[in-house]
Amino acid sequence: MGAGNAMARSVNPVEFHDYSAASSDFLNEVLSGLSNIPKAIPAKYLYDQRGAELFNKICELPEYYPTRTETGIFRDNADDIAEHMGEKNIFVELGSGNSEKARILLESFRPSQYLGVDISKEFLLEATQNLADDYPWLQVHAVCADFSRQLRLPAHCISSSIVAFYLGSSIGNFHPDEAVAFMQQIHKLIGIGNQLLIGVDLKKDEQFLHAAYNDKAGVTAAFNLNLLHRMNRELDADIDVEKFQHEAFYNPSRGRIEMHLVSITNQVLKIGKRKFSLALGDSIHTESSYKYSLQEFGQLAEQSGFRIQKVWTDENNYFSTQLLIAI
Ligand code: TRP
Repeated sequence: MGAGNAMARSVNPVEFHDYSAASSDFLNEVLSGLSNIPKAIPAKYLYDQRGAELFNKICELPEYYPTRTETGIFRDNADDIAEHMGEKNIFVELGSGNSEKARILLESFRPSQYLGVDISKEFLLEATQNLADDYPWLQVHAVCADFSRQLRLPAHCISSSIVAFYLGSSIGNFHPDEAVAFMQQIHKLIGIGNQLLIGVDLKKDEQFLHAAYNDKAGVTAAFNLNLLHRMNRELDADIDVEKFQHEAFYNPSRGRIEMHLVSITNQVLKIGKRKFSLALGDSIHTESSYKYSLQEFGQLAEQSGFRIQKVWTDENNYFSTQLLIAI
């Protein structure tokens, strides 16, 4: 692993760094996740190339408010965000996906380097190359990494003027104690005095939340079911995907959306040499999306070693963009 291969055939080639996990991790985590009670598979496995494409489609759905709302917050407050961020040389975007939202800020800041960090390799390479082609003045790095392991930056990117971005509502996909651990890792990565701009989805009406995770076009269902297709593609599995149903609901006592794959019949799943029996109604938990109040997130930030400098929200208080400084 490691790397530093520049991609060929471009005026502004992207430097690629591969810190990704071995593919055997997928098999091991699926086997142990299906042996657990309740059954659960880590959400990061939803994001293979197909999963990342489907997630991108989710972001454009009429019911899925977070992406649109966050982009609106950036547009409406770009100058104020810029003023509070000061001069920054290096932009590190964690979970960069299609790198679309960062464009608004890249254009107003013009840092010298951009590092996109994502688990979905092909997607990351395409998105960062598009960015490099559109911004010839920007030095672009693509870092393929899994956030369940220690984050690191290529050595020549360590600087006293870094700003990290963790946009969308991805922080909500960690359980709160894991979110603290992850933010502590970000703290270590950027160092004291540097900043983190983070998207935090807020608690709101349950019906509205329900709609966002159960879209009419069925894209979220396809995103969830893709995990089973991925198991068929990459593991030696023989799963009849038709025998599962997407389910997402708000769990008010835990303050989170839960996404599950529910078995609609009694069945036996074969994965390699292992077999797992599922009864009608049994579920595999695939992802959670925690929603915070501003106060709850404030405590989480403080526990992680950050001080909140400024919070921007939309007019409906659906979503917040928060600027934190590592102290
Ligand atoms: N980060 C996204 C979110 O929390 C991921 C996501 C999209 C998701 N659809 C989902 C998580 C459905 C759980 C259920 O909104």
